[in-house]
Amino acid sequence: MQRINTIEEYQKEYKHSVENPEAFWAEQAEQFTWQKKWDTVLEWNFDEPNIKWFVGGQLNITENCLDRHLKERGEQTAILWEPNDPNEPARKISYKELHTDVCRFANVLKNNGAKKGDRICIYMPMVPELAIAVLACARIGAIHSVVFGGFSFKSLSDRIHDATCNIVVTADGGFRGAKDIPLKSVVDEALETSPSVKKVIVLKRTNTNVTMKSGRDAWWHDEIALLGGRGEDCPAEIMDAEDPLFILYTSGSTGKPKGVVHTTAGYMVYVDYTFRNVFQYNNGEVFWCTADVGWITGHSYLVYGPLLAGATTVMFEGIPTYPDAGRFWSVIDKHKVNIFYTAPTAIRSLEAMGLDFVKPYKLDSLRVLGTVGEPINVEAWNWYHENIGKKNCPIVDTYWQTETGGIVISPLAGITKTKPGFATLPLPGIQPALMDESGKELIGNNVDGRLCFKFPWPGIIRTTYGNHKRCKETYFDIYKGYYFTGDGCRRDEDGYYRITGRVDDVIKVSGHLLGTAEIENAINQHPDIVESAVVGFPHDIKGWGIYTFVICDHERKDTDNLKKEIIDTVTKYMGPIAKPDKIQIVKGLPKTRSGKIMRRILRKIAENDLENLGDTSTLLDPSVVEEIKIGAIK
Ligand code: WTA
Repeated sequence: MQRINTIEEYQKEYKHSVENPEAFWAEQAEQFTWQKKWDTVLEWNFDEPNIKWFVGGQLNITENCLDRHLKERGEQTAILWEPNDPNEPARKISYKELHTDVCRFANVLKNNGAKKGDRICIYMPMVPELAIAVLACARIGAIHSVVFGGFSFKSLSDRIHDATCNIVVTADGGFRGAKDIPLKSVVDEALETSPSVKKVIVLKRTNTNVTMKSGRDAWWHDEIALLGGRGEDCPAEIMDAEDPLFILYTSGSTGKPKGVVHTTAGYMVYVDYTFRNVFQYNNGEVFWCTADVGWITGHSYLVYGPLLAGATTVMFEGIPTYPDAGRFWSVIDKHKVNIFYTAPTAIRSLEAMGLDFVKPYKLDSLRVLGTVGEPINVEAWNWYHENIGKKNCPIVDTYWQTETGGIVISPLAGITKTKPGFATLPLPGIQPALMDESGKELIGNNVDGRLCFKFPWPGIIRTTYGNHKRCKETYFDIYKGYYFTGDGCRRDEDGYYRITGRVDDVIKVSGHLLGTAEIENAINQHPDIVESAVVGFPHDIKGWGIYTFVICDHERKDTDNLKKEIIDTVTKYMGPIAKPDKIQIVKGLPKTRSGKIMRRILRKIAENDLENLGDTSTLLDPSVVEEIKIGAIK
């Protein structure tokens, strides 16, 4: 397996990938197991959009993640699982065992009526069975839709409903720190409004009491037992290159989350290429991505990327602060982790706990550090570099999105000269463009604009499930002929890219992308709330916090109770990750004459920048702004 070794090689490979993208990606695709080679490398236009890679090719991604490695590294650990409780033994699952486990569960899915093209929802804690369920879906050609376990019943049922899933795979509950999170009961509530679901398969993890609905619900272990020792093999379904592999929901500026669709071959080639090159992965290394499989980072760099490369991937069930804030570092020493990939939020929160939690650990197995999901501030970068990497480990600040499938702008570890706060340079195959507000591409360096890409790469989003128009309107219509990311970006004098943050109404809270409209919908479920507006404000640890303005339909003197009720409502409908940090009760919201909320003004107030509210003369009632300013929460 080839990979880039020097900056000169990067430049050469980049040039080749731009001048001859088809030849470049065909070379990358050669090393995989194909049932049938492709006829055409790429067909595309960004107008519809219609993007197809490796057209005519046939394969199964699990043959590439599992079967392909059996001869050479069947006994090597594929998944190294670290439980929430450090006293519970870790589990090591070899490639051979994982292959068997995936085949067995694939047969369970088949016995429960699953077939190619079905949508299967996976709502599970971070246990190996989560990865097994994901791969089992791919084995039989079913499309997995993993929903993060931190979402609650309404978010779950919306996602199940949107994809018309027929099977849900879940667990009785999950352990996270000192907490025991119920999952099955959330599924039960979600299924009250999800008639498409015919079967629920439940893993026993916490031994929490659950209700099993007869005919619909079955235990994972009972279903495995039903195979009676058979089912160790399950032929991989032959998939077309462009058959969907998975749907993953991501928040948008408006309305419900979008089901981002990734397909089989392009996604596979792209995550494998980026995994090996960005992290400069060497055979035999232990790679740890701390993201939950419920997010794209977990899909691409906990499950698929490392397994495609034949790596040992660490999967951690718990949280960074349990039993104490040294847990990450203790796990790194315990499992001799070589490459560690986490979120800036986690780094900032651990930095705030002090160095006493770092000092007991050697951390000498580490070779490369990575960050993902949000901009990393210089201070956190330096802390990570000095105290965790001991100034010996290159840091890769990787920029990408659910929609890009894999990393698109990032240093290559140890090869690209880094600059704290900069995601640095585009990977081969990626052609960034910065646009001004009028839609003109900004040429040259030292420019600030909106980040777009002007040519497809194999991992790019193909559609939004069930609504191609939404995909076109969100990503491809804003700048004709370009894919638009929704991010602001600077290209500095060296041609390095620095992401400056979202330019739309989504916010990154602790690295989780949340739509303000989605949070508002949850808040509005409270019977006393007539209207709400959510904006982000800079937060030292979380990156962004959630500031909420609410209008009540009658005066509530017990504001503390009301605020608590609002938080509970959001937790119930959307999940604890969307809890507002600040709630301000207001009489009115700043609206234009056409009734649109002027979020720009609310953002300024939330940021405590009260002097620079800009022009308020176009407001229907400018006096509301004065009232909001007085009550602003610092
Ligand atoms: C943000 C996560 C700055 C960005 C993989 C993007 C980043 C959104 C970085 C996608 C980074 C991701 N520096 N910002 N290195 N990486 N982002 O879909 O705003 O959960 O659009 O995918 O995260 O979030 P998503």
